[in-house]
Amino acid sequence: MRVSIFGVGYVGAVSGACLSELGHEVIGVDTDAQKVAAINAGVSPIVEAGVEERIAAARQAGRLSATGDAEEAVLGSDVSMISVGTPSAANGSTSYTALDGVVADIGRTLRKKNTPHAVILRSTVLPGTTEARIAPALSEASGRAIGETLSLSMNPEFLREGNAVRDFYKPPFTVVGSLSEAGYETGEALYEKLEAPFVRTECALAESIKYLSNVYHAVKITFANEFGALLKAKGLDARQALELFCRDDQLNISSAYLRPGFAFGGSCLPKELRATAGLAKALDLDLPMIGNVLASNAAHIERAFEIIAAGGRRKVALFGLAFKPGTDDLRESPFVALAERLIGRGFELTIYDRCLELGRLVGTNRDFIEREIPHLDRLLAVDPAQALEGAEVVVVGHVDEAAKQAILSQWGAHGGAVTLVDLQGIEAFRELPGADYQGICW
Ligand SMILES: NC(=O)c1ccc[n+]([C@@H]2O[C@H](COP(=O)([O-])OP(=O)(O)OC[C@H]3O[C@@H](n4cnc5c(N)ncnc54)[C@H](O)[C@@H]3O)[C@@H](O)[C@H]2O)c1
Repeated sequence: MRVSIFGVGYVGAVSGACLSELGHEVIGVDTDAQKVAAINAGVSPIVEAGVEERIAAARQAGRLSATGDAEEAVLGSDVSMISVGTPSAANGSTSYTALDGVVADIGRTLRKKNTPHAVILRSTVLPGTTEARIAPALSEASGRAIGETLSLSMNPEFLREGNAVRDFYKPPFTVVGSLSEAGYETGEALYEKLEAPFVRTECALAESIKYLSNVYHAVKITFANEFGALLKAKGLDARQALELFCRDDQLNISSAYLRPGFAFGGSCLPKELRATAGLAKALDLDLPMIGNVLASNAAHIERAFEIIAAGGRRKVALFGLAFKPGTDDLRESPFVALAERLIGRGFELTIYDRCLELGRLVGTNRDFIEREIPHLDRLLAVDPAQALEGAEVVVVGHVDEAAKQAILSQWGAHGGAVTLVDLQGIEAFRELPGADYQGICW
């Protein structure tokens, strides 16, 4: 394929070197004359292992050149990749100045071209940018609608500097969001020789996955470093502790706990967080991330409350009160916190939890619930039907299969103009007739 790459900095230079090695014909475009001259001299414009020799080889083979002229590049290619910088603006927002300029350049030139053209965005942009900002600007500048003769897709880049060539050839996956079929097909053809799975998705999800990944990486590093500082202060070598921690690939290094949903709770996580933050304080250590996890969790409970309260309906049936299904452990349950919030704000609440028999609660569990919701017995329904009776808002904290089926089968009788707030993520509830369905993270 003939590919123009706008911006031959770290991402563009690596892509140019590797795409030309894969056999594509590449023209790099940059406003920086030094970078253009470097590529044309067969030299890498950036320091990155493996790039220089690939650029030199591609120059020799006649598959790579560079220019400062956007028009020449667009007219000489069928695909334009955009990898210009999207730096932070002074107020922390993202600056799209360079990106907007390139989109306008490409669009204007397309008026002089009759053949189909594909535009692939590789720069990191916030979710929604491709569709809401780039697509209209590109259509307006080119006079073409996004479709058959002009495609626009978003293909986030995951390379790490220092490892970039390896990352280019062995990405975990290739993600492409596109506004038309042609955009997906261009991506598939471009990366045909890579073994990585090719994932078709929508543009905003392609944009999001980059932020999810980078923020997660930052959170992982911060987690290890905050614990590192804490363990060092206790005379330990945190590297050993983290090495052992990482050997658990069931809960620690796995997809466990990475499903968005409701807040955490129970008798362990909040307690251990408080103890860790307390220890840091005693040691005069500032651990801002660990120290704010409980506040973040409380904010999530508040978000659920706001969703429930938003519709102005006052009669609420809450399914699930224990901190997770299959137990009657109420200690530090986020559902108890939610119930308290609702009661405190005057909502009429009914609760159903199959595992809960007040008479059987003992010890700290009983003490906890008597302190938090003193007259819980008056709120508990004996079965799902009783909980649903007259409910205007059904909140699904957690339901087992029987309660789920009860809600589904009785919905017809009780479901007219009812809000269903789903904290668990049960697809079948989305389809309930007449339900105003609200998910907590979806
Ligand atoms: N560096 C990374 O490791 C990395 C990894 C993944 C994604 N990204 C994202 O990719 C994008 C590019 O990052 P980078 O590190 O390669 O940036 P960079 O600053 O190294 O390169 C950007 C290049 O774009 C050029 N440029 C600016 N305006 C231009 C214009 N109008 N026409 C042509 N060229 C122009 C600049 O001169 C520069 O050479 C950013 O959105 C970044 O967030 C970077």
